[in-house]
Amino acid sequence: MPDAFKLAFGPFAAPARGILVVFCAEGVKFGPATAKAIAPAADLVGRAAKAERFTGKSGSALELAVPEGLKAVRLVIIGIGKGTALTQKDVVKFGGMAMGKVPAGASEASVFAELPNGAMSAGHAADLAQGARLRAYAFDRYKTKRKDGDDEKPKSRSVTIATSDAASARKAYAEREAIADGVVLARDLVNEPANVLFPEEFARRAGALKKVGVGVEVLDVRALRKLGMNALLGVGQGSVRESRVVVMRWNGGKKGDAPVAFIGKGVCFDTGGISIKPASGMEDMKGDMAGAACVTGLLHALAARKARVNAVGVIGLVENMPDGNAQRPGDIVKSMSGQTIEIINTDAEGRLVLGDVIWYTAQRFKPKFMIDLATLTGAIIIALGHEYAGMFANNDQLAERLAKAGEETGEAVWRMPLGPEYDKQIDSKFADMKNTGGSRWGGAITAAQFIKRFVDDKIPWAHLDIAGTGFDSRQTDINKSWGSGWGVRLLDRLVRDNYER
Ligand code: BES
Ligand code: MN
Ligand code: ZN
Repeated sequence: MPDAFKLAFGPFAAPARGILVVFCAEGVKFGPATAKAIAPAADLVGRAAKAERFTGKSGSALELAVPEGLKAVRLVIIGIGKGTALTQKDVVKFGGMAMGKVPAGASEASVFAELPNGAMSAGHAADLAQGARLRAYAFDRYKTKRKDGDDEKPKSRSVTIATSDAASARKAYAEREAIADGVVLARDLVNEPANVLFPEEFARRAGALKKVGVGVEVLDVRALRKLGMNALLGVGQGSVRESRVVVMRWNGGKKGDAPVAFIGKGVCFDTGGISIKPASGMEDMKGDMAGAACVTGLLHALAARKARVNAVGVIGLVENMPDGNAQRPGDIVKSMSGQTIEIINTDAEGRLVLGDVIWYTAQRFKPKFMIDLATLTGAIIIALGHEYAGMFANNDQLAERLAKAGEETGEAVWRMPLGPEYDKQIDSKFADMKNTGGSRWGGAITAAQFIKRFVDDKIPWAHLDIAGTGFDSRQTDINKSWGSGWGVRLLDRLVRDNYER
């Protein structure tokens, strides 16, 4: 049963019940409003800190149950270290840490948006709220029972961010909420099982973006055939679920200004096809549409916060299945670009989808830049683990801007090489190219080289291989979900910092 989550902003006041969460710097130093609120328990806090050797180090916390003198049922003190030069990323994290101290089933909590040197800005209070929102997310719509022995009705958690200027914080939160909603949408899409979320259903859910002002166009198999997207269609031909391409457009920029373009791999389930994958772990391949989920979440975020930019999102939605009608190794398909591809391994399907969708996006929209996201290769997980996404780019400026946005949001990217020595590994005996290189080595790079053959070098382009970050990734203070929604915050930041008028 889902736990509802309510968020509000209010003044600094000791809460009459629930959990009180406050922050302190090293030396157990509190801000004035915090000190006042916990004054009746000051002696208790001092003794507890000593007993627990709590000093306020970053990431540490001190918890007191039913603290004498306070009405709160629990007092949580979160250490923030020195507390100087806090970045937005830090404060969002604090919000996640605070929410982590409010267990599901707890009904009320107050979080004091104050640092030892005074009240947080409205922006920081809103950042706390965003962190709390992201942390509170749980994908539990298929759970019909609560934890063992607990047959209580699910309670809604209501969290109040206490601040010196609630009205300004509420205002500042509107944008952060739009972005968090985009992340949550992406997480939901990734977490959904493939019997529920197949290409048509994904397209239907993308259609809901119309509510926030996004233009949504769905191309069906007939339309895709007419366009000549045979590389994409070849991947989907073994499935009873029909393929789709969805085009999402948000026009918040100057009329006629070239859009920025985001392209997502949307393989709703990847069995590998005839080159079938081993059974162990195959269930994870319901998340092979994390790139498309990110693009959808991003377009939601940009529209909901009314970003002053023209943006397009294009996602290629297919299911890769073995079947009597499935594509075979050795098959040769003609892509929309006119280039022919020999299929060596039907499990290298993401690049086939992206090749057509990238070509289509470039031809139709002549974008300012293109960024594609794809859970493309196991090889990128070998190279980078779950900490960084792999970034490949034909343009240094775009790569640098992405790297900076990655540092600022904590959704980090690491640049990988491209080059002719890798490119020649995908030349084919029978067609213009083949869909895998000769060996496994450098598999993320040969995959990127394949995609690059569908990119006109006059358009700045970056490819993000998110196989290690899109799902089953590092658990953080703001993400406890399998589907991470990775990339929404990164790309929103990229747009905000560089491309809004
Ligand atoms: N979707 C997979 C890549 C993947 C693997 C994503 C594990 C997340 C976790 C992709 O379609 C794939 O199967 N890639 C193959 C390519 C190979 C056949 C050249 C791979 O990485 O093994
Ligand atoms: Mn595959
Ligand atoms: Zn795949």
